[in-house]
Amino acid sequence: MILAPSILSADFGRLAEEVQRAERGGAGLIHVDVMDGHFVPNLTVGPAVVAALRKVATVPLDVHLMIENADRYLDTFVDAGASWVSLHAEALPHLERAVAHLRSRGARPGVALNPSTPLGSLDEILPELDHVLIMSVNPGFGGQTFLPASLDKIRRLSRLIGERGAKTTIEVDGGVDKNNARALVEAGAEVLVAGSAVFGHGDPEVAARGIVEACR
Ligand code: DX5
Ligand code: ZN
Repeated sequence: MILAPSILSADFGRLAEEVQRAERGGAGLIHVDVMDGHFVPNLTVGPAVVAALRKVATVPLDVHLMIENADRYLDTFVDAGASWVSLHAEALPHLERAVAHLRSRGARPGVALNPSTPLGSLDEILPELDHVLIMSVNPGFGGQTFLPASLDKIRRLSRLIGERGAKTTIEVDGGVDKNNARALVEAGAEVLVAGSAVFGHGDPEVAARGIVEACR
């Protein structure tokens, strides 16, 4: 299991310290939520913050693009230091091209699915993906409640990946905490994104370690 703390719930005035604390607690990726106020009803950070994080993080950056026309910005984010990049299937009509471009740039391409987007939308592209990001809340905000139907979606995706002989990693994002982490891993998730559960209260190092240990 790889824990990917989302900086969305971190203290932006002390981002470097927050990242270092999360890493001490066992973070294997740092998840960066990029929102444009169009694809989702919220605005967050862009490539400048990714570049700043790249200088302080010792683990790879996992950039979740919740933006329209993401294909226009792929090079910008890779140049800024994105290693894993998640593209929303609902926002990009030419997914295959964007996935191939990311791979040609040495990044790890993945596709994110909203809760209401069926797994069938991955049929043609699954073998091309390094990861699939299952949204377990409707994207846009941290601190929302985990949607329980996501567990079965992860189980079905895990089966599909096996049947297709693909090497795709399952990542889950939204409402993840130490209480549901283990069930998510048992369902087939290998990367757990957690925002408010890591940065929402108290010490991020302790909180991150609590999630990692809950999966042991
Ligand atoms: C939601 C974002 C998530 C968010 C998760 O749109 O994609 O990454 O930060 O936050 P929590 O873990 O608080 O649900
Ligand atoms: Zn995210």
